[in-house]
Amino acid sequence: MAASRGRSSIWWTSFARPLPDPERPRPLGPRFYGRRHGRPLRQNARTLIDSLLPRIAIAPPQPGARLDPAALFPEPVREVWLEIGFGGGEHLAAQAAAHRDVGMIGCEVFVNGIAALLAHVQRERLDNVRVFPDDARLLFPALPDACFARVFVLFPDPWPKKRHIARRFVGPENLPELARLMTDGAELRIATDEPVYQEWALEQMAASRDFADATTDRHARPADWPPTRYEAKALREGRKPIYLRYIRKNRTR
Ligand SMILES: C[S@@+](CC[C@H](N)C(=O)[O-])C[C@H]1O[C@@H](n2cnc3c(N)ncnc32)[C@H](O)[C@@H]1O
Repeated sequence: MAASRGRSSIWWTSFARPLPDPERPRPLGPRFYGRRHGRPLRQNARTLIDSLLPRIAIAPPQPGARLDPAALFPEPVREVWLEIGFGGGEHLAAQAAAHRDVGMIGCEVFVNGIAALLAHVQRERLDNVRVFPDDARLLFPALPDACFARVFVLFPDPWPKKRHIARRFVGPENLPELARLMTDGAELRIATDEPVYQEWALEQMAASRDFADATTDRHARPADWPPTRYEAKALREGRKPIYLRYIRKNRTR
């Protein structure tokens, strides 16, 4: 099934160049505070956005729409995994290449990052990748319960200032929704290098009734957890990331 079926062409053109928000047709949803555009895209990145993205993108769901994530992939998949804020897509692409029988869905709003992932998808022929090129929270309402076996939130925007607490992704707004979307026993992986966010994420996860801590050594990235560009920059600049793993507890029936 083509993941792009049924969307308007205007929606696509909005990715290639910055447009003022009102011109960009998208469902109403939570406000996004990060960057959507960086440096102007090079020609090959624009070509990927124009030609490859429409083939593998998930269109913004209309209110009330329902989406079966496993049905987005051309071949049957063993599980579906979700990465929120994949940045340049290094981790997502490496996981997709290592697990070709898993369907990988990546959400990212930063168009330069989306183009970087598309380059991996093309180069490594990653047929098991689908992209939601927008705020992950807009996708959630269309998804059924217990559809993801793994969720990755790697180096989320840290928003260290107290007045920006509500913008932190790992928190009381999103954790119950992630728990709803995850299968019993599914794994949630979180990494962060920002000390304020480290403390925050540990507190938030400890307060959640849906997740059990499965971290073995929070200072060591597990071998099956590919590095990201953001992580490399943090290490170069002397920050010490933590790598957290949580298991979605069984639902009580
Ligand atoms: C600090 S960067 C880290 C990127 C990547 N995970 C890495 O480790 O290199 C955080 C990324 O999350 C994206 N992001 C933040 N909130 C998001 C959301 N609600 N939905 C999708 N992407 C989001 C941002 O656009 C940004 O690219």
